[in-house]
Amino acid sequence: MPFVQRAGRLIVVCGLSGSGKTTLARTLEGRLRAIRFSPDEWLDALSINRHREDVREKIEALQWKFAQDLLAQGLTVIIEWGTWARSERDTLRLGARALGAAVELHYLAEPVDVLFERLQRRGRENPPIERDAFSRWVAIFQVPTLEEMALFDEPVVADLSHPD
Ligand SMILES: Nc1ncnc2c1ncn2[C@@H]1O[C@H](COP(=O)(O)OP(=O)(O)OP(=O)(O)O)[C@@H](O)[C@H]1O
Ligand SMILES: [Mg+2]
Repeated sequence: MPFVQRAGRLIVVCGLSGSGKTTLARTLEGRLRAIRFSPDEWLDALSINRHREDVREKIEALQWKFAQDLLAQGLTVIIEWGTWARSERDTLRLGARALGAAVELHYLAEPVDVLFERLQRRGRENPPIERDAFSRWVAIFQVPTLEEMALFDEPVVADLSHPD
């Protein structure tokens, strides 16, 4: 039988803190047998404070390197970095496509009050995030436009409320 190369698939889960990226990424990981890359989990595993942005950047670079190797092998990879900037999402999309992989963008949007309330309820941030600081994050975040969304492929799992 001739060898057929499977195409990889990159799933980018994008959103502000508290938007549910990790929750969704874990569900997709199970459904799609994908490999999920979360910088927070690697920071925790290395006992490094999540606020160390310099280390986070290095971890993300390492995760992207691994992710590209896995995509080239035809696997499904989930990246849940937040990807607040359009330029970050462009880099992931173009990098995946250069490897012949499909690429999905899942943007998780919730009203600011809902996000802030979830973060307070989760109680993980130490020190706790303040409302003013959170409002600044909201102002920095570049919401994907319809034009940007159209550059991505259709999700393989479009509606998670439906059973398999
Ligand atoms: N669809 C949802 N409806 C209600 N609560 C949710 C939903 N998704 C996630 N949550 C809850 O909101 C909180 C934040 O979710 P999660 O940790 O997945 O967000 P996150 O985007 O990964 O945040 P961070 O960027 O801080 O890692 C959790 O307590 C989670 O249980
Ligand atoms: Mg998370």
